[in-house]
Amino acid sequence: MLMVKKINHIAIAVNNLEEAAKFYQTILGLSLSGVEVVTAQKTRVGFFKIGESSIELVQPAEPDSPLTKFLEAKGPGIHHICFEVDDVETEVKAFLEKGATMVDRKPRPGAHDTKVAFVHPKSSSGVLIELCELPKEH
Ligand code: CO
Repeated sequence: MLMVKKINHIAIAVNNLEEAAKFYQTILGLSLSGVEVVTAQKTRVGFFKIGESSIELVQPAEPDSPLTKFLEAKGPGIHHICFEVDDVETEVKAFLEKGATMVDRKPRPGAHDTKVAFVHPKSSSGVLIELCELPKEH
């Protein structure tokens, strides 16, 4: 069975979503959609769809967001890559069994009713990886 289906999005950490969005809107001619606050992660996100994947701009929604530390340490830039999976809970178990270090040992709510879990960068050459499961159609 196919484990990882595709790259769902690449996330870029920014201090100000609307400011950062201007490049994608003005230079690339893309439109911003799906702006929402992800309470579980204390972030505010917005997406630019490019083909089958998206660019996600992600900014801290609260001063104590984990993203604030990232921005203070590294400044704006690529934050994570998101792989789409069928069943995130199954994948988390499989990843743990295969020895991956997970940030999340259980899925948590992501943007747009997705279920997500993060793989620790020390398992993946310094890149934070998000696994996401899209909501099932009703
Ligand atoms: Co993401």
